[in-house]
Amino acid sequence: MKYNLPKYILPALIVLAISCSTAKQDITSSTKNISSIDCKVDSLLSLMTLEEKVGQMNQYNGFWNVTGPVPKDGSAAKKYEHLKKGWVGSMLNVKGVKDVKALQKIAVEETRLGIPVIFGYDVIHGYKTISPIPLAEAASWDLEAIKKSAEIAAAESAASGLNWTFAPMVDVSRDARWGRVMEGAGEDPYLNSVIAAARVKGFQGNLGEFNLAACVKHFAGYSFAEAGKDYNTVDVSHNTLHNIILPPFKAAAEAGALTFMNSFNELDGIPATGNAYLQRDILKKDWNFQGFVVSDWGSMGEMVAHGYSKDLKQAAEQAANAGSDMDMESSGYVEHLAALVREGKVSEDKINDAVRRILRVKFELGLFDNPYKYCDEAREAATVGKKEFHEGVLDVAKKSIVLLKNNNNLLPLKKEGQRIAVIGALANDKTSPLGSWRIGADDNTAVSVLEGLNAYKGNQITYAKGADVVIGEPTFTVETKINMTDKSGFTEAVNTAKNADVVIMVLGEHGLQTGEGRSRAELGLPGVQQELLETVYKANPNIVLVLTNGRPLIIPWAAQNIPAIVEAWHLGTESGNAIAQVLYGDYNPSGKLPMCFPKAIGQLPLYYNHKSTGRPGGESPTESVFWSHYTDIDNNPVYPFGYGLSYSTFEYSNLKLSTNTFAQNGQIRVSVDVKNTSKIDGKEVVQLYIRDLIGSVTRPVKELKGFELTEIKAGEVKTVTFTIDEKTIEFYTANKKWETEAGDFKVFVGGSSITKLEAPFSYTK
Ligand code: NOJ
Repeated sequence: MKYNLPKYILPALIVLAISCSTAKQDITSSTKNISSIDCKVDSLLSLMTLEEKVGQMNQYNGFWNVTGPVPKDGSAAKKYEHLKKGWVGSMLNVKGVKDVKALQKIAVEETRLGIPVIFGYDVIHGYKTISPIPLAEAASWDLEAIKKSAEIAAAESAASGLNWTFAPMVDVSRDARWGRVMEGAGEDPYLNSVIAAARVKGFQGNLGEFNLAACVKHFAGYSFAEAGKDYNTVDVSHNTLHNIILPPFKAAAEAGALTFMNSFNELDGIPATGNAYLQRDILKKDWNFQGFVVSDWGSMGEMVAHGYSKDLKQAAEQAANAGSDMDMESSGYVEHLAALVREGKVSEDKINDAVRRILRVKFELGLFDNPYKYCDEAREAATVGKKEFHEGVLDVAKKSIVLLKNNNNLLPLKKEGQRIAVIGALANDKTSPLGSWRIGADDNTAVSVLEGLNAYKGNQITYAKGADVVIGEPTFTVETKINMTDKSGFTEAVNTAKNADVVIMVLGEHGLQTGEGRSRAELGLPGVQQELLETVYKANPNIVLVLTNGRPLIIPWAAQNIPAIVEAWHLGTESGNAIAQVLYGDYNPSGKLPMCFPKAIGQLPLYYNHKSTGRPGGESPTESVFWSHYTDIDNNPVYPFGYGLSYSTFEYSNLKLSTNTFAQNGQIRVSVDVKNTSKIDGKEVVQLYIRDLIGSVTRPVKELKGFELTEIKAGEVKTVTFTIDEKTIEFYTANKKWETEAGDFKVFVGGSSITKLEAPFSYTK
C-alpha cells in the first residue's frame, strides 16, 4: 500500500538514501536485515530534532474518541497537539482498524517526519476470542498448544489494527495471594522460561501482518511483592533475582522478544523504572538486548511516591539515565526530557540509544514499509471471531484442565440415564470464564458450564444457583463486591441435590477477582460458597466440584471430603464446552498444576523448589520443636507443583542413567519407563528434577529441568528419555555468574514434584 509522505520528507529521504548507500535500500523500506535497518535508523535519527526524538519516547493512552470531534480543551487537546507535532511514538488502548488508521494517518501524513506510531494493547490471553488465562495454559505443559494460542491472539488483534501486545508476563509467582499469578506460568523458573519462549514465538512469528511485537514483563521482581499485596515493596536477594526471577526474562529475550516492560516495584531500594542495574547492566549489556523498554503505566511518575524522585522531572532524569526507553502515560519525558538534555543531566547519546531502539522495532514490524499494514478493514471483518479460532481456544482449554481428585472413578460421568444437579452461580455465568485481562472481549460471550453440559442430551440436568458469588456486574477497574451474606438460594440447591444421582458444583472465584490490583488475604472459596458446598454435601455427597479460579485456592475441606475435584480455572470463550467434554470423558485430562495448592494461608509463599534450611526436619515425625515447621500444620501443600490426575493411570519404573558421572562437554542420558496401567489411552507429563547437593551458594531441594508430554496407549509402556548436560546444571554462583560447579547431584523423575524414583550422579571439571 502506498501512503502520502509528508511534504518535508522527500529532501530528507535523498539525504538518507545517500547516507545509507551501503545498504542500497530506500530508507522507508523496512527489512529484517538488521544492519540495513540500523543504517536507516541512524539516518532517520540524524534528521530528528531533540523534541522529535523525545516524542518517540512518549506513549499516550487513547485520549480521544477519534470518531468524535477533535479535542479542544485540557489534557486531551494537549495530547492531540503533541500527536500532530510528532511527539507521540506510541499509543495504547486504541483498537479497531478504523480508529488506529485515523490516528496513524495523523502521525504519518501530518507530522514533519511522518514516523508511524506503534499501537500497544494488553492482548494477554486473546483479543475477542479468549483462550484460558495464562496460568491455566501453563497447566497444559503443552508448548505447541500455548504457542498456537498466542498465534490466535496475535492474528485477531493484528487484524484489528494492533501491532504490539503487552505480553507475555513471565513473573515467577510463589504467592497465590498476588492477584496477577493468573497472568503468568506459575511458580517454576524453568516452566516459565519455556512457556515464555513459546508465547514470544507465537505472538511474533515472522512479524507478518498477523503477528505482533511481544513485550516481556514485568522487569523485574514484581511478583515478589511482600505478602502478595499488589504494588508492594519487593526485597529479594541477588541469588533469588538471578536464579529464580530472571531466567524466564532471559529465555524470552533469547526467543527474540522485541520489547520489555519494566515494573512498579523497587528492587534493592531502587524502583525498576529507574533501575540501571536491571535495564542497562543486565538486559542491555549482559544480554545484549537490542529492543526497547517501555515503563509500566505511570511507573515513572510513581517514583515520586516511592520516595526516590523529588518530582516528575527528576523521575524522568533517573528513568532515562537508567535505560527506560519509553514512558507509558507519565508525561515525564515529553514534559522534561529535552530540558534535561539541555541542562546536561541526560546525555543526548542516551536519548539516541532509546530512539534507535524504538525506531528499530518499528522498522522490524514493517511500519515504515506500510504504516497501515495492520489496518485492513476487510481482513479485520474476515478474521475476528473466526471458527478456527474457537476450535483453537477449545483445544487449549481442554488441555489446561487439571483433575485433582477422582475417588471411585466418579468421573467420567455416564452419558445417559442420570439425574444431574448443577449448582453454583458460576455454572451459569458467561462472563466470568473470560477471566481477568481480556479487555478486548465482550461480556457474556463465553460458553457457560451449563450450556456445555446441556449440549449432551442423554441426562436430565437441573440447575440451582445456590448463591451469588459477586454482587452486581463486576468491571475491570472497580473493586469486585462479594456476596458474604445472601444464602436465600441454599434451600433450592439442597432440594435439587437431593433428587440427583450426581451433583456438579461449580464454585470458585469470579474472573474479575484476580488480575491486577486483586490480591486476596484469604484464599478459600469466596463468600458463602464453602458453606453452600458443606450444606449440599450433607444432602448428597456424590459431588463433582468444578473449580473456576485464577490462582491456587485453599480448599483442604473439599480435598478431604469431596470425591471428585476438577480444576477448570478461567478457560475463556469455549470454557463450558471444554469442561463438559472432560466431565463426560470425551477428553481425557492431562493437565498438571503450575503452582501448588497450599493448606493454609500461613504457609505462603509456598513452592516446591525451596531451600533445605539448616533445620529441614526429616520424613518421620519428631517430638522436638526445633526444626523449620509450623506447630499447627505440616509443611506440605494439599496438591503439589506438577500434580494432576488422568482417567488413565501411570506407573513409573526402571530409571536408568547412561553413566553416573560426566565431565565438561559430556552428558548423561536419563531414561524411565512409564506404563499406562489403565484401559484408557492417555497423556502424561513426565517430569525431570535435579538436586545439586552442595553449591557455592545454597541450592534448592529440587528443580524442574525437563519434561515431556507424551501419549501412552492403554497398557502400553513408553520409555521416555532426557539429556543432562552442563547447561542443565548451571546456576548463578558465588562468583556472580552462570557457570557449572563440580559435585554430586540427584536426579528425580515422576508425574509431579513428589517423585519416587531417584538416582545419583556427579559432574567433574
Ligand atoms: C499496568 C500493568 O501492570 C501492565 O501489565 C499493563 O500492560 C499496563 N498497565 C497497560 O495496560
